[in-house]
Amino acid sequence: MSKVALVTGGARGIGAAISIALKNAGYTVAANYAGNDEAAEKFTAETGIKTYKWSVADYDACAAGVAQVEADLGPVAVLVNNAGITRDAMFHKMTPQMWKEVIDTNLSGVFNMTHPIWGGMRDRKFGRVINISSINGQKGQAGQANYSAAKAGDLGMTKALAQEGARAGITVNAICPGYIGTEMVRAIDEKVLNERIIPQIPVGRLGEPEEIARCVVFLAAEDAGFITGATITANGGQYFV
Ligand SMILES: NC(=O)c1ccc[n+]([C@@H]2O[C@H](COP(=O)([O-])OP(=O)(O)OC[C@H]3O[C@@H](n4cnc5c(N)ncnc54)[C@H](OP(=O)(O)O)[C@@H]3O)[C@@H](O)[C@H]2O)c1
Repeated sequence: MSKVALVTGGARGIGAAISIALKNAGYTVAANYAGNDEAAEKFTAETGIKTYKWSVADYDACAAGVAQVEADLGPVAVLVNNAGITRDAMFHKMTPQMWKEVIDTNLSGVFNMTHPIWGGMRDRKFGRVINISSINGQKGQAGQANYSAAKAGDLGMTKALAQEGARAGITVNAICPGYIGTEMVRAIDEKVLNERIIPQIPVGRLGEPEEIARCVVFLAAEDAGFITGATITANGGQYFV
């Protein structure tokens, strides 16, 4: 039987590319999403990948969602924590609500999703947890104190969980994408994108979602068991740690 992979935010953007790449690599994939039913239905129709709606910001919803996926498809062997949002503003204009929404989704969401799956991975002595962080969690970004804090938090959690999971056959790794051409990035003012962001990327272009997906497939593999607590940067040379 093929292994089950669960991808949060897996019906659009980078997550959709990850879901498709994992399916093509032989996994049975469940793609979670938050609210865009139309995109999810289209994604399922085009790919045959089942989609499941809940918010990663809600612990109880995550526990129920994981239980549903496992009842439908079997135990989750690969968890990709990809769901994420931005609520950008310079700090003096950032509201507590903007702070909370981003931390709840991008940081607590990783706890909420990993926690209900972790025990089963320990029991089965196998698991792959892959957290999609960001270049801006590594270097910080003006206008993104909330996002940078959450994404840096994901990296700390990755390293702590890697140590806890090692003896149980669970690897926990992170990927830090640079600027990838999804709706999240296309939402940035085009002038800012073309005049300020792309010139900072040595390869001279945005990344493709598929370029992140191939990192996920690499880390998810059974023979990637010696790689844990690592961060793969995929940012076109924009920033080196
Ligand atoms: N794009 C980039 O350049 C870039 C760079 C670095 C890191 N990243 C990270 O990569 C990940 C994917 O980004 P993207 O650009 O593909 O974003 P995107 O195109 O905006 O898609 C985000 C996905 O996350 C889902 N989502 C948002 N909030 C959720 C919640 N509370 N519960 C469940 N799902 C939720 C969305 O669901 P709906 O479809 O229902 O809205 C959507 O499927 C994010 O973690 C982001 O921070 C992106």
